[in-house]
Amino acid sequence: MGDIAIQVSNLTKLYGKTLAVDRINFEVKKGEIFGFLGPNGAGKTTTQRILTGIIKANSGTVSIMGLNIETESFYAKRQIGVVPEIANVYIDLSAWNNLMLIGSLYGLSKKNRIAKAEELLKLFNLYERKDEKTKTFSKGMKQRLLLAMALMSEPKVLFLDEPTSGLDVQSCRLIREKILEFNRHDMSIFLTTHNITEADQMCNRVAIVNHGKIAVIDTPEKLKKEFQFMQVIEVLFNKEIQNKRELEKMRGISKIQKVNDKFKIYTDDTDCLIREIINFSHREKLKIISLNTLAPNLEEVFLKIVEEHKSG
Ligand SMILES: Nc1ncnc2c1ncn2[C@@H]1O[C@H](COP(=O)(O)OP(=O)(O)O)[C@@H](O)[C@H]1O
Ligand SMILES: [Mg+2]
Repeated sequence: MGDIAIQVSNLTKLYGKTLAVDRINFEVKKGEIFGFLGPNGAGKTTTQRILTGIIKANSGTVSIMGLNIETESFYAKRQIGVVPEIANVYIDLSAWNNLMLIGSLYGLSKKNRIAKAEELLKLFNLYERKDEKTKTFSKGMKQRLLLAMALMSEPKVLFLDEPTSGLDVQSCRLIREKILEFNRHDMSIFLTTHNITEADQMCNRVAIVNHGKIAVIDTPEKLKKEFQFMQVIEVLFNKEIQNKRELEKMRGISKIQKVNDKFKIYTDDTDCLIREIINFSHREKLKIISLNTLAPNLEEVFLKIVEEHKSG
């Protein structure tokens, strides 16, 4: 128990008949960045809102640093910082006053509030704009301010709901860098995202969620191995293939599909397969009209992981 930041057992949440979260279990270790990765509607926001004590689950338990989020809510909430899905900076207040407000809500002394606010505004490149009303801020600036607000209380566990979704490149990069930096200083991170690259770059472990269920939890390295099988090459030849069996015999094929005139070939070794396709086209006297390599999209990865999960 001593090294666990977040413990989730058998959590379920229903909205009417919609099962938004379906008996999920996982734990986040202290000092870990844990990714909660899934498409829209997977139940990520609902899960984060339960974990941070904003809404109640129908069943199951959550503890944060050993404190139950329902029965010890006051103390559990003091452990956490939250960046929610929908931004809630006060747009009529300046960045500075937003931080002062949140600092006094957390009960920080005036001296602490000021020191902390200065430090965070500089860290998030907002110091120069600190006295402007935040209604003039870009989306990226607002999000950086939200993150600064979440960090005012020096939380042990930081929750972020799609923190970089729809932001400019610089804000994305800055936010990711700072999250990693706080994590190096021992903060545990729960990161909700639908961005595979983000999960891959940031997280020690990732849970893949779909339809309220966790399909798999693993390190990005292990998950990527699954993704490698999912690389796709799309090829269009100048005429109908007579010898389909020769095509299917190429090395490196995991699966082959005909989509309209094109062949969609799944592989774990694109380099080998491209060479094979070229050799094949020479042998069969075909021309290659187009050849594209496609990264697997999230849905394909999901389907694969979920399918494997069922069968194995
Ligand atoms: N307040 C709500 N009332 C009713 N249904 C909701 C509510 N919030 C979310 N849902 C439903 O619960 C499911 C999960 O939603 P959500 O947790 O927002 O997913 P995600 O954050 O992964 O996109 C969806 O089917 C969504 O429509
Ligand atoms: Mg969401």
